[in-house]
Amino acid sequence: MEDDRQALFILRHHRRFPSASHALVEQIGKRILIFTSATREPMDDRLVFFHGREDSSFSAMTTTPVFTNLTLVRHPLVQHKITLLRDRRTPTKIFKELVDEIAMLMAYEATSELSLDPVTVQTPLEQATGFQVSGKKLTLVPILRAGLGMVEGILRLVPSARVGHIGLYRDHDTLEPVDYYFKVPGDAAERDFFVLDPMLATGGSAVSAVSSLKRAGGVRIRFLCLVAAPEGVRRLGNAHPDVQVYAGALDRELNSQGYILPGLGDAGDRLFGTR
Ligand code: PRP
Ligand code: URA
Repeated sequence: MEDDRQALFILRHHRRFPSASHALVEQIGKRILIFTSATREPMDDRLVFFHGREDSSFSAMTTTPVFTNLTLVRHPLVQHKITLLRDRRTPTKIFKELVDEIAMLMAYEATSELSLDPVTVQTPLEQATGFQVSGKKLTLVPILRAGLGMVEGILRLVPSARVGHIGLYRDHDTLEPVDYYFKVPGDAAERDFFVLDPMLATGGSAVSAVSSLKRAGGVRIRFLCLVAAPEGVRRLGNAHPDVQVYAGALDRELNSQGYILPGLGDAGDRLFGTR
């Protein structure tokens, strides 16, 4: 167990560790390994590995995968808005607005480790020392089509970011990605990239997009999605262990057509009203 937050959520979903477990986790930190090595009882299989909130009604998994390449954004607003996205009754207009808003909230988390340089500014009263985001230029790279829905929200937070594009679609039969477009700024090695796609399902599209970006010289790359499947997080982690995934939800599994369950359906179709 390498992530204290994951440990916390596991404990909080375990009947024998009520909310007092928060203090416990904070106190013992990574030594929570003691717990995970406890004798496994049938009740342990009720551990819930995903969920931003304890009142979730999604069914529990029998195992608790640990993904060191995954950061779940558990902010209540993100969880609330993702639940609205999942609702089949949410119309295209609202769906688009929600994707935009969630992307902005997730970018707040994904940019939290950008480095700062001190700068001096003159206030109306005196000179003050402040900070500005240093050197590396942020570049957003939506995977077409559905990734486009995440761009504007992040640009509202970082208006100076550049925008590249990667065109990919999933072959309906093989589920493997077919690429048709690639354009990113020339000085790729100097940049921080956020690859954007609402859905990380089999992971084929994400692996292909990141591979293309690396071939173009990209080095510092993060992947932002709204809903991820364990299969996709694992596949991206195996292919590109240096790429951290930021997701609003880690769902249960894929169905036989490669759709995420419970998921939200076809993100591109729901965003653009093509269904
Ligand atoms: C969806 C989604 C991802 C991909 C994820 O796009 O937006 O790009 O599927 O699936 P994967 O992880 O199994 O590769 P889709 O291929 O449907 O294209 P679209 O955005 O043009 O609809
Ligand atoms: N692409 C989508 O849009 N939705 C899924 O559930 C899987 C892939």
